[in-house]
Amino acid sequence: MKKRILSGMRPTGRLHLGHLVGALNNWAELQEEYECFFMIADWHALMGEYENPSVISDSIVDNLIDWLAAGIDPQKSTIFIQSHVPQHLDLYMIFSCLTPLGWLERCPTYKEQLKQLSNRNIKTYGFLGYPVLQAADILLYKADKVPVGEDQLPHLELTREIARRFNSLYQQKIFSDPEALLTSLPRLLGLDNRKMSKSFNNTINLSDDPQVIKEKIQGMFTDPRRIRLSDPGHPEECNVFSYYKAFIPGRDKEVYLWCKGAQRGCTECKAILSEGLIEYLKVHQDKRRAWLKDKAGLERILRDGSQKAGELASQTIRQVRQVVNIG
Ligand code: TRP
Ligand code: SF4
Repeated sequence: MKKRILSGMRPTGRLHLGHLVGALNNWAELQEEYECFFMIADWHALMGEYENPSVISDSIVDNLIDWLAAGIDPQKSTIFIQSHVPQHLDLYMIFSCLTPLGWLERCPTYKEQLKQLSNRNIKTYGFLGYPVLQAADILLYKADKVPVGEDQLPHLELTREIARRFNSLYQQKIFSDPEALLTSLPRLLGLDNRKMSKSFNNTINLSDDPQVIKEKIQGMFTDPRRIRLSDPGHPEECNVFSYYKAFIPGRDKEVYLWCKGAQRGCTECKAILSEGLIEYLKVHQDKRRAWLKDKAGLERILRDGSQKAGELASQTIRQVRQVVNIG
């Protein structure tokens, strides 16, 4: 029996290179070894974007297309939308009853998000419960492993705590401890050297046109110590160079040498990167275009996915309802 994986992404805008390198490429590989469930977490998106929910509906199919273009294969994996499987909310409700407030108030991601997203009104009951819903997502499918970025580790820890609390309260071993599966890949920074994120407006999106990619790359931060062409650079500290390693690894050695030897300038270095990245994304974008024309195919994937996910989810919920004496 293959071990089971569940992971998810919130549909809150276009996907970018960070999603591809940090998650999708990894998910595509995991499909060979695991039974995979990949979920579009629209309820989680609503917790943050409830004031502007149209971004969610606009992003769902667009993100799905990026997943498919990145090689997430509906023949191998179950791809579904969270809100299409109502059992997520049943388990969320039950977990809400037994999760102490303190666990949620102390959660570092909660405190950080409140600080970071101070422009948005997320001081809500729902947002505090974000990790409880995530625990429900994971435990509903009894996932063994959960591929996530490091920022999600506190949510995995809470998931294990909720699983243990449930088991010990009702003296039954319903849930086992899911494990985080960290991606070993280095994090790709945004154009301004901060974390790549839509809210910093520093992304290169998977659907960006070649011209947009060129402009964005020309605006990237480089080694601040390299002001003139004659200044030797420090490629290992330059984000442009990390993009070379990620997207055109064949060219990184020569660039390293010119940069250190102050032989060529950053403008030229970036122009070569643009070409390479546009070429790299061309394959992805061609696949995007093909999926955009296949509306029926996309609908079928989502329908089949929520059906498959629903079968497993309803087994778990039957078991859980029995244990808590509800329904
Ligand atoms: N919180 C995750 C994120 O923002 C998305 C998510 C929702 C998720 N449910 C999940 C990830 C379950 C893994 C497992 O990235
Ligand atoms: Fe960075 Fe390239 Fe400029 Fe070197 S030449 S500092 S790697 S952009």
